[in-house]
Amino acid sequence: RPIEIQRTTAKKQKPDQQQLGFGLHFTDHMFIMDYSLTNGWHQPRIVPYQPISMDPAAKVLHYGQTIFEGLKAYKTSDGRILLFRPEKNLHRLNNSGRRLGIPPLDEEAALDALQQLVAVDADWIPSEPGTSLYIRPFVIATQPALGVDPSAHYQFIIILSPVGSYYPEGVNPVKIYVESHYVRAVKGGLGEAKTAGNYASGLKAQEAAKEKGYSQVLWLDGVHRTYIEEVGSMNVFFKMDGTVYTPALNGSILDGITRGSIIQLLQKWGIPVVEKTISIEEIYEAGRKGTLEEAFGTGTAAVISPIGELNWQDNKLVIHEGRTGELSAKLYDTLTGIQSGKVEDPFQWMVEV
Ligand code: COI
Repeated sequence: RPIEIQRTTAKKQKPDQQQLGFGLHFTDHMFIMDYSLTNGWHQPRIVPYQPISMDPAAKVLHYGQTIFEGLKAYKTSDGRILLFRPEKNLHRLNNSGRRLGIPPLDEEAALDALQQLVAVDADWIPSEPGTSLYIRPFVIATQPALGVDPSAHYQFIIILSPVGSYYPEGVNPVKIYVESHYVRAVKGGLGEAKTAGNYASGLKAQEAAKEKGYSQVLWLDGVHRTYIEEVGSMNVFFKMDGTVYTPALNGSILDGITRGSIIQLLQKWGIPVVEKTISIEEIYEAGRKGTLEEAFGTGTAAVISPIGELNWQDNKLVIHEGRTGELSAKLYDTLTGIQSGKVEDPFQWMVEV
C-alpha cells in the first residue's frame, strides 16, 4: 500500500541539541491514516506537521478511547538510523487497541509507515549523547457521537520529537514518594494498556508528591496498597542480595519493552532476575537488613532512572546512599550504547531505517 508523501515547503528551525527537554519540539512532518467501518484502514499519508481538526463530539474527547506508543530513533556516528525494537511497540499498540475496542493495524504496514516518516525527517534526529528522536504513534476515536460504544471512525497518527533526557535529574537518582491513597490501575482495568486514562489517573498523586519534594510516585496495587506495581510512568526493579527483582506482569502493569530488554541483559550477564509479587514491606525490610542494593525505573523515555530515596508513610529509605548504583549505571550504558550503535547488539534489537 503506497504512502502518499506531501513535503512541507516551510521547514522549521531546529532546536538547540543541548536544550531539548522532552517532547517539546516537533518535526516537519507527520503520518496520518484513517479508519472507517466500510473502508477499514485507508489513505496512509505523510503530510506537513499541522493541527488536526475534529468534531467536538469526537469520542476520544469524551470517553478516552485512544492508545499510544513511544519509541526512539538514533543516529549512529557513521550516519545510520536505528530504531529500538519497533515491532514490539506496534504489537503492543494492537494489544492496547484490543482492550479499548480499537481495530487492529497491520503491524508490518505500520512499521513501514513509521520508517518512511523517520526517513523523511531524518535531519531532525539529534546526535548529541543522550539525545534521540522520540516517536509517538497513537490512535484516536474520531466518530462524532456521544453514545458510549466503540467508535466507527479512527485516525492513526505518528508524530516525532527530538528529545534529551526525560527527567531534569538525567541519570542521577530521583526521590520517590510511595503512594498509599491514589492508585494508577487495577487488575481487569486498563493498567496493562498504553492508554491516556492510566496517565490521567496518575497526575494528581504526581503533583502532590512534587509538592512534598519528590519527583515521582511509586504505585502500589489497587486492592491492598501493598504490592509494588510501577514507578511514575516506568517499570521498577530492585536489586536485593545479588538478585534483581521486578513485579510480575499481573494485568495492571505495563509490559515494558525496556523492562523486557533489561531482563534479557541481566540473564545474559548471569545475574539472577526474578519476576514476582513484591510488597513494599519487603523492600523496607531489605533496607533495614542492608541487603537492598539498588532500585531503578525503566522506560523508553528515561531508559534507566535510579531511585535514591523512598518515602512510605513518612518512613524514609535511602538507597545506595542516594547515588547511582553500579548495576544501574552498567545497564544504562549498555542499553544506550546498543541503541546508539556504539556497543555490539547481541540480541539484534536494532532495526535500521
Ligand atoms: C516511558 O517511556 O517510560 C513512558 O512511559 C513515556 C511517557 C512519556 C508516557
